[in-house]
Amino acid sequence: MQRRLEPELMNGDAQVQAYAAADFSSGDQATIEAIQRLLFNTSPLPSDPLVVDLGCGPGNITLLLAGHFPEARIIGIDGAESMLALARGRAQQQQLEISFHCQTLQEVLGGPLIGQADLVVSNSLLHHLHQPDLLWTVSRALAAPGCRTLHRDLRRPDSDAEVQQLLLKHLPLAPEVLQHDFAASLAAAFEPQEVTEELHKLGLNQLTVSVEDDRYLVVSGLVKS
Ligand SMILES: C[S@@+](CC[C@H](N)C(=O)[O-])C[C@H]1O[C@@H](n2cnc3c(N)ncnc32)[C@H](O)[C@@H]1O
Repeated sequence: MQRRLEPELMNGDAQVQAYAAADFSSGDQATIEAIQRLLFNTSPLPSDPLVVDLGCGPGNITLLLAGHFPEARIIGIDGAESMLALARGRAQQQQLEISFHCQTLQEVLGGPLIGQADLVVSNSLLHHLHQPDLLWTVSRALAAPGCRTLHRDLRRPDSDAEVQQLLLKHLPLAPEVLQHDFAASLAAAFEPQEVTEELHKLGLNQLTVSVEDDRYLVVSGLVKS
């Protein structure tokens, strides 16, 4: 199936509300566990680390990161202010100190965080990006020496029929706007082989691409030695 792009930013009111209200807790937990495995298999974070969550949305992963790494400076970045308003509210409610920056990934490239991050993560961001190298270019640019990275995202099924099967299996009763976004996201996602080829083009051969359950891929490793 050909990749069908969807809009990069999620800033429609109904879309943002439906996303924030949905329960993604098991997937969010899988992302945190994958990050913990990556650190266990490489080395722990340095003291006072900078952790960046790209495309943080309403803060699902950012808040969990703040809970797991209380010694870290945590920054969530998203281009959609309506998502960040929810993220800031949640962080305040949980009394977590997190900085949220309203920036696109394209803008991050020219900003002050370049070369500063010890851990760069994202969850469900890659499929939004129109430019296939953007996430890898930004992760590398943000990386301080020793920086690890982990990106978990949907992977593209072979056919629209498979998209429908996944929709029926995982979101049969979800609000229509969420079902629409899930199907559009699957169609916009990358195949693992496409990601591997992109990483090789950029000389990021040390990052590994693995397949998780029936719909995710995970890219992880040491981004800068
Ligand atoms: C599906 S949500 C994922 C949110 C969060 N990471 C999570 O796991 O729940 C994708 C987020 O990426 C943001 N996004 C997409 N393209 C972006 C870009 N080029 N720059 C910044 N944010 C972007 C969207 O606005 C949206 O909030």
